[in-house]
Amino acid sequence: MNWGIEMLYVHNLMKKYGNNETLNILDGVNLEVKEAVWCSIVGPSGTGKSTLLKCIAGLLKPDDGSVRMLNHDIYSMTEEARSNFRRTNIGFIFQDFKLLSHYSVLENVIMPLLYDKDRKWLMEKAKDLLKLVGIPESLHNRLPDSLSGGEKQRVAIARSIIGDPEIILCDEPTGNLDTKNRDRIIELLLNIQKRGTTIICVTHDLEVAEKGDCVYRLNEGLLTKEEMIHL
Ligand SMILES: Nc1ncnc2c1ncn2[C@@H]1O[C@H](COP(=O)(O)OP(=O)(O)O)[C@@H](O)[C@H]1O
Ligand SMILES: [Mg+2]
Repeated sequence: MNWGIEMLYVHNLMKKYGNNETLNILDGVNLEVKEAVWCSIVGPSGTGKSTLLKCIAGLLKPDDGSVRMLNHDIYSMTEEARSNFRRTNIGFIFQDFKLLSHYSVLENVIMPLLYDKDRKWLMEKAKDLLKLVGIPESLHNRLPDSLSGGEKQRVAIARSIIGDPEIILCDEPTGNLDTKNRDRIIELLLNIQKRGTTIICVTHDLEVAEKGDCVYRLNEGLLTKEEMIHL
């Protein structure tokens, strides 16, 4: 039994898109994740994995149910409080990176904390993080469009951890990467987890999923625990 501290508690989450739509993309999702655990979520494309992750992150209000993170009810907060909570506690790695195309690699990494911290201090921290994720200095002043998919992914990871978040939500963090880059990202996420960070990782890659301490499958709006997959 895991007696660790509760990080995330998702209760009976419901979500559908559009008023006339009858299909609930999320149809009563429950999930509990302890601190410093890596929880993988698998399921075919279109089943609602990104929707679930956005609901957990406070980016998309569910129709019903609740999300509690670090004992805060995410959707009971005001929008401003939720946004502050997100900035200090949650790192989000988007499926399509969402790097800002008119800003350099370094500027993208410091962006989440730009209004909270001293810029010079942030720049030093960003440089350390870019080194950690294997982005050479020669790329620091480049614009994201000139980077490869693997490089963009690593910049997005550096940006997601600049605020030392308690939890990182990753949406297909290794999608479209070759095996070598995929293995680097997995190793990096494992190292971040070792520092005590909780990881929720949505993936359709079973080799990535099985790095987790637990694996859930999203199917027809419901989340069920998988027996550990051993390839
Ligand atoms: N903003 C939206 N408006 C309407 N339908 C959406 C929206 N976002 C996602 N969907 C639909 O919801 C379903 C689940 O999408 P998504 O959460 O992206 O699934 P996954 O990440 O598992 O591929 C899909 O059928 C998708 O087309
Ligand atoms: Mg998705």
